[in-house]
Amino acid sequence: MNILLTGGAGYIGSHTIVELDKAGHSVVVVDNLVNSSEESLRRVAKIIGKDVPFVKADVRDAAAMNELFDEYKIDAVINFAGLKAVGESVAKPLEYYENNMNACFVLLDVMRKHNCKNFIFSSSATVYGDPAIIPITEECPKGQCTNPYGKTKSMLEEVLMDLQKADPEWDIVLLRYFNPIGAHQSGLIGENPNGIPNNLMPYITQTAVGRRAELGVFGNDYDTPDGTGVRDYIHVCDLANGHVCALQAIERKCGLAIYNLGTGHGYSVLDVVKAFEKANNLKVPYSIKPRRPGDIATCYCNPAKAKAELGWEAKYGIEEMCRDAWNFQKNNPEGY
Ligand code: NAD
Ligand code: UFG
Repeated sequence: MNILLTGGAGYIGSHTIVELDKAGHSVVVVDNLVNSSEESLRRVAKIIGKDVPFVKADVRDAAAMNELFDEYKIDAVINFAGLKAVGESVAKPLEYYENNMNACFVLLDVMRKHNCKNFIFSSSATVYGDPAIIPITEECPKGQCTNPYGKTKSMLEEVLMDLQKADPEWDIVLLRYFNPIGAHQSGLIGENPNGIPNNLMPYITQTAVGRRAELGVFGNDYDTPDGTGVRDYIHVCDLANGHVCALQAIERKCGLAIYNLGTGHGYSVLDVVKAFEKANNLKVPYSIKPRRPGDIATCYCNPAKAKAELGWEAKYGIEEMCRDAWNFQKNNPEGY
């Protein structure tokens, strides 16, 4: 199939191009580069041995998107485009709602005008709020999101469900990602956050490479085995492969389907620090800081539905995630 990746120059998008290419798909990327750089696509081109067709445009620009769909015959879209920094979304709610919601609305409208009704949406474990069931299955009720970023994911899921109900020609897969970390084994592409990292793994790798003095561990008084927050970390290449499997579901005319993409294992912040130190033979200085507002104690999934229905499961463990995250950071100390 010919797949359009909105936001495809970003962290998860760039890794997904590699997996799609491996599976024999061709891709087109549209990105406004607000949180990425074209260098990621040049690196992907090195890995796959061919150029990646790229349109620099904002997905909210209907004219540009129409032109893109006129020029390329697109069979399916994976919608990665969006702003994703939780803290920033609290400070700039209007920018987050406007960008994430409008980009999706414009895209869906252009798609239906071009009779392309196959769609994969990057959703998030954040839609479960403080989860009612651990491990989290897809049946777990959605919860109260504490920030505008999470609310855009939850609201767009509702929009997509209504759309598919109204027009069953649409096949739509909502992928609820848990915590993607790691990088492609080549060390050429990886996570490249702007400014001070919000997320755990890039903070660890930047501390290890000397760009940050020490990691702050946000709280050690949660109701977890060691008191620090527990999450379901998933290797970004496994996550990327989940999109290839979701496309197969679309080819089988899945209607509306929802899948958790995680490993099913929960690791605490200190587990991750220890695993990183062991995998890479390094020390990561850290100190305990107050809890981060909005954080929950524990979040990991039951990935059985994705295994049963998509034939997908994570291959990589925490060791490979830590090794590959460090491999990218040490090869690219200042990022791209
Ligand atoms: P990323 O920021 O690296 O990639 C998103 C890309 O979208 C960026 O390249 C950015 O430039 C682009 N973009 C944003 N707004 C755009 C617009 N209006 N028009 C065109 N391009 C636009 O983020 P990522 O980690 O690769 O995440 C991809 C998707 O997965 C996002 O929707 C994110 O919310 C979702 N997600 C990420 C995580 C995570 O932990 N990384 C977890 C759950 C869900
Ligand atoms: N943490 C620290 N220090 C840091 C950064 C994080 O101790 O410097 C802790 C957090 O308190 C949490 C854990 O590490 O316990 C993971 O935090 P992340 O910020 O890496 O990830 P979150 O689980 O908070 O959120 C991420 C994404 C969200 C997404 C969610 C579920 O940022 O966008 O995973 O997919 F919604």
